[in-house]
Amino acid sequence: MSEAPRKILVTSALPYVNGSPHMGHLVEYIQTDIWVRFQKLRGHDCIYVCASDAHGTPIMLKARELGTTPEALTEGYSKEFVDDFGDFHIEFDNYYTTHSPENEELVVGMFERLRETGDIYTRTIEQSYDEKEGMFLPDRFVKGTCPRCKSEDQYGDACEVCGATYSPEDLIDPVSVLSGTTPVKRESEHFFFRLSEYEDRLRDWMEHAALDKNVVAKLDEWFEAGLQDWDISRDAPYFGFRIPGTKDKYFYVWLDAPVGYMASFKHLCDRTDGLVFDDYWNADSQHDVYHFIGKDIMYFHTLFWPAVLKGSGYRQPTSVYAHGFLTVNGQKMSKSRGTFIKARTYLDNLDPEFLRYYYAAKLGPTIEDIDLNFDDFVARVNSDLVGKLVNIASRCAGFINKRFDGELAAELPDASLFAEIAGASESIAGHYERREFSKAMRLIMTLADKANRYIDDHKPWVLARDESRLPEVQRVCTQGINLFRSLMIYLSPVLPAVAAGARQFLNEESWDWRAAGSPLLGSPINTFKPLLTRVDPKQVGKMVEQSKESTPVAEEETRDDTISIDDFAKVDLRIARVERAEPVEGADKLLALTLDVGGSKRQVFAGIKAAYDPDSLVGRHVIVVANLAPRKMRFGLSEGMVLAAGPGGEDIFLLSPDDGAKPGMRVK
Ligand code: MSP
Ligand code: ZN
Repeated sequence: MSEAPRKILVTSALPYVNGSPHMGHLVEYIQTDIWVRFQKLRGHDCIYVCASDAHGTPIMLKARELGTTPEALTEGYSKEFVDDFGDFHIEFDNYYTTHSPENEELVVGMFERLRETGDIYTRTIEQSYDEKEGMFLPDRFVKGTCPRCKSEDQYGDACEVCGATYSPEDLIDPVSVLSGTTPVKRESEHFFFRLSEYEDRLRDWMEHAALDKNVVAKLDEWFEAGLQDWDISRDAPYFGFRIPGTKDKYFYVWLDAPVGYMASFKHLCDRTDGLVFDDYWNADSQHDVYHFIGKDIMYFHTLFWPAVLKGSGYRQPTSVYAHGFLTVNGQKMSKSRGTFIKARTYLDNLDPEFLRYYYAAKLGPTIEDIDLNFDDFVARVNSDLVGKLVNIASRCAGFINKRFDGELAAELPDASLFAEIAGASESIAGHYERREFSKAMRLIMTLADKANRYIDDHKPWVLARDESRLPEVQRVCTQGINLFRSLMIYLSPVLPAVAAGARQFLNEESWDWRAAGSPLLGSPINTFKPLLTRVDPKQVGKMVEQSKESTPVAEEETRDDTISIDDFAKVDLRIARVERAEPVEGADKLLALTLDVGGSKRQVFAGIKAAYDPDSLVGRHVIVVANLAPRKMRFGLSEGMVLAAGPGGEDIFLLSPDDGAKPGMRVK
């Protein structure tokens, strides 16, 4: 390792503290922590800071709803993050909050600099305003009917049904999510950052930042579309920092959030001798700054943030490393399936190092999503960590402990096998450095296979039956233990607690990366204690069950939507036979169905086009709500409703009665 020690500052995204940490968050903090631990093990001066992102409308409103202050709310959740991160062995050099004096001072300083250069200017805009609540409404707080496809109950920024994007003013029948009243338009003066003039400077940065090609492709797309100036202010009421010189305007949370990286670092510098803020953040800094983030927040980190830094005279990030999103068993995390798992629920059931290993085994340097599959999780942890890795030590340790008074042999019988494992050091290090963790894990496990094969071939348990061959037993076991030791050093960024146990067993004070290259010989070791036990799939099942229970009632089940039997009896459900089914011109989702409802014919529009080929429906029996008031649609009159189940899109299933059913029959 000829590399000179580097000075590196690393960050993970600052989590919003309006909810508990979950398995999705952990992808990022575990990934970053592994990378940081690796750098430290290599002898670099690597500092890892983070903080809670405490500002913004959702936090303000949630506090209001719970009858508390945003400060108290965010402190409570911050504590959960700190505790859970700690229990997952994520080790920050500093964890702070964006709601801090350091952050305010830095943001205000940058703002003033950008005001002077003209990169921040004011402009009056029109926005939706809720008169009852007395506040301007962010796009997501306005709902209404999509101006394009006429789907109801869509957010003010985009339609989830047809994908159209628009502004809240374009919605048909808009309502405020907060009060249910119709928002009015109101003017307000806002502050804008002149992002539109930063394209060249951002392209310069991009060339040096060694971004992943997916990230570069995204940036190119954004350049292609043209950079828009960025609205960095919000009107009161808002939880954030007030803009100097105004009475009721605040910095938008996404302006002060990344500055929180600097503020957390500053807070650390102020408490640490010899650590100087300017050395890392001045425009001519020679040190490295890396931001680890999720793919959903790339725009903020690869456009706004480098531009704001540049404009206000600071250095820009060395690189921004984006990862993909977590899916569980191939699907989005879901509260009803029990796959929206809180970090704490995992910790109540399973060893944190299992998850660290599993994520490492899945993670690469791209923004591809990663899947946590429970069967795969159990199989991999049991076969790799318990079956391969720890097994090497447990097969050899007993002999050394009992037969040789805990003393390792003075030499290795197979120096070339040890050299092979030692020789993989730079390949493995390269994989870690480039965040190719899955490759690193695969290579380490291939080497573990070799170590196990060595023990299989030399069978110390057979040799040990013959007194005269005891010195050989000691040497073979010393070989095995040294192979284990080198592999454990390679894995220590991923498995810090297991590695600490192994180091204690080997009676060593500390490890650095280089230690993997020189064997431990002739020295006393301690009694071996099992370092990990197998995962029982039942524990995973329990965790899923508990996650179902912990579904916030507020979100999925509170509405009292029971109806009486009399209410139900009002619904006239009938069997109908589909006579014709045709696509509807100008509607992406709809089919026009002509139904035979036992003598009478009806036309019904059904949003099932993505799921059914119209021809396949002709002749089928379906269930229809026959007494639904007819509804005039853009395409004609809809006289009833066909019943179907499913989340929508391609996954929607018509309820179809069995063969004996006849059109017109009442459904009971
Ligand atoms: N507060 C902002 C970040 C500000 S950084 C100056 C934010 N917070 S967050 O809590 O929503 O997310 C924190 C990080 O966790 C983000 O990088 C996000 O991408 C990541 N993840 C949150 N859910 C995730 C998954 N389900 N899967 C993988 N990562 C996810 O964004
Ligand atoms: Zn739409």
